[in-house]
Amino acid sequence: MKAVILAGGFGTRLRPLTCSRPKQLLPLGTSTLIGYLLEQLQQANVSEVILATGHDIKHLQEYLGDGSAYELIVHYSVESEPLGTAGAIKHAESFLQGEDRFLVLNGDIVSDIKYLQLIKHHQQHKATATITLFKVQDPSRYGVVEITPEGRIRRFVEKPAPGQAPSNLINAGCYVLNHTILDQIPSNREVSIEREVFPALCNSATVIGWEHQGIWVDTGTPASFLEAHHALLTKMRKSQFIGEETQIASSAVIGSNVTIGKRAVIGPHTRLTNTVIFDDAIVGEGTIINEAIIGQGVVIGKDLRLEKHVIVGDGAIIEAGANIPPGTLICPNCHIKKDETPPHCFVKNYKSLSV
Ligand code: GTP
Repeated sequence: MKAVILAGGFGTRLRPLTCSRPKQLLPLGTSTLIGYLLEQLQQANVSEVILATGHDIKHLQEYLGDGSAYELIVHYSVESEPLGTAGAIKHAESFLQGEDRFLVLNGDIVSDIKYLQLIKHHQQHKATATITLFKVQDPSRYGVVEITPEGRIRRFVEKPAPGQAPSNLINAGCYVLNHTILDQIPSNREVSIEREVFPALCNSATVIGWEHQGIWVDTGTPASFLEAHHALLTKMRKSQFIGEETQIASSAVIGSNVTIGKRAVIGPHTRLTNTVIFDDAIVGEGTIINEAIIGQGVVIGKDLRLEKHVIVGDGAIIEAGANIPPGTLICPNCHIKKDETPPHCFVKNYKSLSV
């Protein structure tokens, strides 16, 4: 079985983390979002992965190479302009010759979807497309499906107003598609699978749903990126994950849902909760970090408070005495000095900085 991974989006909602690396290379536990996905696909007997990407090709190629580290073959399907979620699949057609069916996955989902069961369900029901569905409490942020009692998808409603959703089942961004679907996707223009292809297809072909129960997090936003780490820690029955060679002062208090990468240094009397700290970061004495994401190699001075979705891009320096209000986004390599308060959306200026 081959799998197409959609990894050509801009990851704008995760800036400034995605100013200096593609979303798929953000850390997840001991690996990265893409590394975690490839490990799962290899375990589900996927032999070849087509990474549908564009502007981020260089970083991804450097990291994944030919895929041999994951015991599968990685091909790169490169779009000169983003072609949308269906346009990207069409663009990858030459890698899918001879495949009756294939998997498609959004590259920013953290889940424990049982791919083998999904594929079996697709084959047993002789479907044209099988869409993984996931039950959520509030479907208003997602693409919601209306489904018949037999499991056929009747219609899609994108981001329904509260109370207007036809069900609580959302499109989980993971599909099995028959090769014939490729004939229905126009070439060389942007096409969305969720908004264009599936709604048209469910009038003429067998489009069914398969409900996944387990972990599912779309890591598109800072809050959901933190949630993905939380879900992974819960799955591992841990409340912290500390990478190799990281030094933590004995007086530091590491609370629940904390992931720290490799070679980081966490100073005395620091207090960390609900936070992800990337490799090589340094946190100064007495600093409190809660619900924040700290990029690679960031240096944070003494006695600071970084809370409620403060996000610090790779390589930034925040000096002791700086004032960092909740929600501040700090660009990669920025230097925030003593007594300075960065503007709320500092990231807007990132293009003018030498990132
Ligand atoms: P935002 O800019 O924050 O919306 O992020 P995004 O565009 O990266 O993510 P979105 O949730 O919109 O897309 C879901 C998945 O599809 C992500 O893994 C994206 O990388 C991928 N994707 C979105 N658009 C394209 C595209 O035009 N081409 C390719 N190859 N992948 C895409």
